[in-house]
Amino acid sequence: MRIEYQGIVLRDMEENDVADWLRWRTVETAWGDWDAPWEPFAPIGEEAYRLRELDKLRKPRPDHRLRLEIDGPEGVHIGAVSAYRLDDDFNWSASSGGENDRRAKWALGIDICESARWSGGLGTRAFTAWVRYWLEAGYTDLYTQTWSGNARMVGLAEKLGFREYCRKAGLRQVRGGTYDGLTFLLDREAFAAHCRRLEAERLELYVPEVKDMWFAQRMYADPETMAYNAGWDIPSASYHPDTGCIDFPESQWGKKLAGSVGREPERFYAFLREKKTGEFLGEVNFHYTPSAGWHDMGVVVYAPCRRRGYGHEGLALLLRRAFLVCGVSRLHNSFEEDRDPGLAIHLRAGFQVVGTSETVRFGRPVQVLELELTKEGYLARRQREKVEFPRK
Ligand SMILES: CC(C)(COP(=O)(O)OP(=O)(O)OC[C@H]1O[C@@H](n2cnc3c(N)ncnc32)[C@H](O)[C@@H]1OP(=O)(O)O)[C@@H](O)C(=O)NCCC(=O)NCCS
Repeated sequence: MRIEYQGIVLRDMEENDVADWLRWRTVETAWGDWDAPWEPFAPIGEEAYRLRELDKLRKPRPDHRLRLEIDGPEGVHIGAVSAYRLDDDFNWSASSGGENDRRAKWALGIDICESARWSGGLGTRAFTAWVRYWLEAGYTDLYTQTWSGNARMVGLAEKLGFREYCRKAGLRQVRGGTYDGLTFLLDREAFAAHCRRLEAERLELYVPEVKDMWFAQRMYADPETMAYNAGWDIPSASYHPDTGCIDFPESQWGKKLAGSVGREPERFYAFLREKKTGEFLGEVNFHYTPSAGWHDMGVVVYAPCRRRGYGHEGLALLLRRAFLVCGVSRLHNSFEEDRDPGLAIHLRAGFQVVGTSETVRFGRPVQVLELELTKEGYLARRQREKVEFPRK
């Protein structure tokens, strides 16, 4: 069994996966702090675990799978999706097999066990593929369960169109706190709308490697792309004030990446990439400015790719990364009043003009608008923009 969807693959478990699961039970265990942390991994020796898993692999699989492994981009194994039958009180119950199963209540689950891969959209794609698989097989009473402290899973469930259905107050004790047990029921119309939205999304953030930096070199050497950057008084031999272009020889690619990648939340740097084709379209970044106490940011779309709405979508991806994933508290950018497209996408995304300043460009004084968006402002806006569905 193999399901491909939006750049991820759901597939049957293979022998090679057992080593990953062993690592996810012993070394890379952070996912266990979120998936049923009240049930720690049962102690079992490595060899006994390996033999038990290999033995399971030899058994025939049910026609309709109750579990599939997830491979992320580049075929990297990152976790699994799973399912279990529920009784009428939303507790685990044994599956009886056959047609009865199709009419039963089923809870679908997901674990991305590589914590470095959380919050990058892979859970959305994998869980969407898994829900589609169940719906296409004729199962309609679909649920998912988590606890009220697991914000990522709650967010994922709601994003896909699961609606809270049963809350067991105070059911879970986790790390000294008391949380509710949550069961969500899939609203199939909302799920269909989610699939349409997901499949219409054009862009993703891609953290480049040295081999990809030819694209940055190409952008920085393109006068049309860099026109916004012309005319400043920057004393650097690689900066061309007449065009705004910047020399970026291959010898500097590694250094730039070492300084800007893997340094979140202080700094972030990524390309905008088209999901379907893998084509690079622009770059985004933010970095902390200690003297101001905010993060300055930038979005640049390569000139040949402009006027297609990528700036707006790219900015939305950057804001999600900054506020939701990295916990940045304030993003700041500044614009001359006449830089219409840049200013427009920032205002549309919720930035507010918090002041003006004067600077010198091409030797003449110019007015600059100071724009800011706070984490609270971003989260409140996200909440308002959530599509509301009536509760059952
Ligand atoms: C829960 C899990 C599957 C979510 O997958 P993911 O790839 O991290 O999530 P995505 O990036 O696809 O984001 C989906 C939604 O989750 C929420 N979310 C993701 N990261 C978040 C974060 N850091 N803070 C708050 N909400 C977050 C958002 O609502 C997001 O919606 P958006 O894309 O519109 O912003 C994954 O984080 C995971 O496996 N965690 C550990 C194990 C676990 O908790 N499993 C569930 C057991 S019940």
